[in-house]
Amino acid sequence: MKETVNIEDMNYLDLLGWLGIGSSHPGGFRSTKLTLATLKINTSDYVLDVGCGSGLTACHLAKTTGTKIIGIDINPLMIEKACLRAEQEGVTHLAEFKLADIYSLPFEDNVFDWVITESVTIFLDKFKAYSEIYRVLKPQGQVADLEMIKLKELPSDVETQMKDCFGADTEPLSIEEWCGILSKVGFIHVEIKNKRLLKTGFLGIDLNKIKEDWLLLRDLRYKISDHPVILQRLKKNAVFIKKNKKYFGFGLFYGQKP
Ligand SMILES: C[S@@+](CC[C@H](N)C(=O)[O-])C[C@H]1O[C@@H](n2cnc3c(N)ncnc32)[C@H](O)[C@@H]1O
Repeated sequence: MKETVNIEDMNYLDLLGWLGIGSSHPGGFRSTKLTLATLKINTSDYVLDVGCGSGLTACHLAKTTGTKIIGIDINPLMIEKACLRAEQEGVTHLAEFKLADIYSLPFEDNVFDWVITESVTIFLDKFKAYSEIYRVLKPQGQVADLEMIKLKELPSDVETQMKDCFGADTEPLSIEEWCGILSKVGFIHVEIKNKRLLKTGFLGIDLNKIKEDWLLLRDLRYKISDHPVILQRLKKNAVFIKKNKKYFGFGLFYGQKP
């Protein structure tokens, strides 16, 4: 039966949740693999992925390294899909998923060795989000946040279009601003790793990965045929990035709790 949803009224994050898109961050899944290769997380480390989406990164880390990871997301559809992914990939003993808000993480202080996050804080109050991350990290624990960077000031029409495509709260910062907030929260050794320019893509989705992502493909085919407007919506975002890519880069913001 055709689902009654109004795509036009959905904001960007709700659309991602409804489609169950994984790796919806700059550079796609390739950039996740580069992040994990850069961080060298130990098998014995306890990792938190905040705003984990449909659990692609968390399940990949668990499957490839045997590391214990917990993913949280505020969208119940994402958590449902992440749990299903963990089951299908046989990693439920390592990867666990919980519905939670980054501003109020349901964990004690000093629990995690690593907090990773991909394309989440760009939509949020960064100081508040990083302060919660800091709280749940153990001393010497490390944070790594893959985010879009603003390379130069956005003209007001570009900023308006960006918010129209990605949501009113979308706020990419300059490298200095991202690092400044991490330092202000108390992180040390703050730096950007793997800085790159933004290339075109559908919402930052890796089209090659989509072909491999059974969980997404399963839903997408039916949803697009029921709601062809989805393609127009995805195209609008892709055209925005293509036209304005000179303003944006991305990279991995790193910091350590003293
Ligand atoms: C652009 S998606 C990125 C998802 C995933 N990290 C990835 O790279 O595919 C942003 C995610 O952040 C989640 N999110 C937004 N606000 C949140 C909050 N306050 N607490 C937890 N998750 C949040 C959304 O539900 C969505 O899954």
